[in-house]
Amino acid sequence: GKGMAVLTSGGDSQGMNAAVRAVVRVGIYLGCKVHFIREGYQGLVDGGEHIQEASWGSVSGIIHKGGTVIGSARCKDFMTREGRLKGAKNLIDRGITNLVVIGGDGSLTGANLFRQEWPSILEELLKLERITAEQKAKFSHLNIVGMVGSIDNDFCGTDMTIGTDSALHRIIDCIDAIVSTAYSHQRTFILEVMGRHCGYLALVGALTSEADFVFVPEDPPPVDWQKKLCDKLEQERAQGQRLNIIIVAEGAIDRDGNPVTAEQVKQVVVDNLQQDTRITVLGHVQRGGSPSAFDRILGCRMGAEAVMALMDATPESEACVVSLDGNQAVRVPLMACVEKTKAVAKAMAEKQWELAVQLRGRS
Ligand code: F6P
Repeated sequence: GKGMAVLTSGGDSQGMNAAVRAVVRVGIYLGCKVHFIREGYQGLVDGGEHIQEASWGSVSGIIHKGGTVIGSARCKDFMTREGRLKGAKNLIDRGITNLVVIGGDGSLTGANLFRQEWPSILEELLKLERITAEQKAKFSHLNIVGMVGSIDNDFCGTDMTIGTDSALHRIIDCIDAIVSTAYSHQRTFILEVMGRHCGYLALVGALTSEADFVFVPEDPPPVDWQKKLCDKLEQERAQGQRLNIIIVAEGAIDRDGNPVTAEQVKQVVVDNLQQDTRITVLGHVQRGGSPSAFDRILGCRMGAEAVMALMDATPESEACVVSLDGNQAVRVPLMACVEKTKAVAKAMAEKQWELAVQLRGRS
């Protein structure tokens, strides 16, 4: 059977374990020898006990767990050529030429670079006498399939990344909890939610909790946002509301591209309306805890499809990422998605807000 390995890289997310489990079990079912690579790319570079053969039973009882049981890391060594040489040698020694990478766009871009470099890596390893000519001939192609694990939903090419749904559940649980105490004291709460440069969690969190105002990076507020915000809060109170909720994405910016922070928003509310105002930063609570049913199934479906994609891979085929499109698990070219994701960042940097929203919308 084929030699296969799975690793999780970058920030963890709920549902990664379901994906790992599916890769292992579908791989074994199809006769492959499947390995875990622990601690992300660092484990690939370090080798040794970080790379272990997986068994059917080794992925029992993990589908309900948050995070990733095989560990994750943001790895600097893999960004160097020497790191990638070591990683390749570790794979070849174990007969692995099929790799599943679960991570964000940075991790998947790294995977693609590794694959493109593979022929020259083999050349160099042979010259350095770290592999034999026989090994070079036998392991001449590296197949890579990606899956996007991230709570941010910031990857263009998939409707939902693995972890987003669970993070949203956690966010709305937190907002509901805040609402009850805010009600008692007639307070205004400003909640900072994660998402890096993506406003998805903030926007959907706001819509599903009846928040009064939301700040997202892709569509910064109007230049006179301070007045608009205060008018809206006053109007809500005039209509009998006892509280106000404002959601600020951690990456929120104004139309000049300067950060809009929860502190700044609080100052505006306190100075203009003298409301009793508090800030809650939800932080890593959003990334922890058990995965939702949606993320468990998403991980299972994507993991299974990733293995199928590796079974179909030929030396000519492009590296792909398994994505969700209209509730179907499909394969899309990895680099096209990475490019599109970069285009969103570029549009935001150039303050082309309409384009940024449009590109995100089509993700
Ligand atoms: O990408 C996931 C994410 O949780 C972002 O929402 C956030 O900006 C970042 O990771 C936090 O990174 P760290 O866990 O390294 O603090």
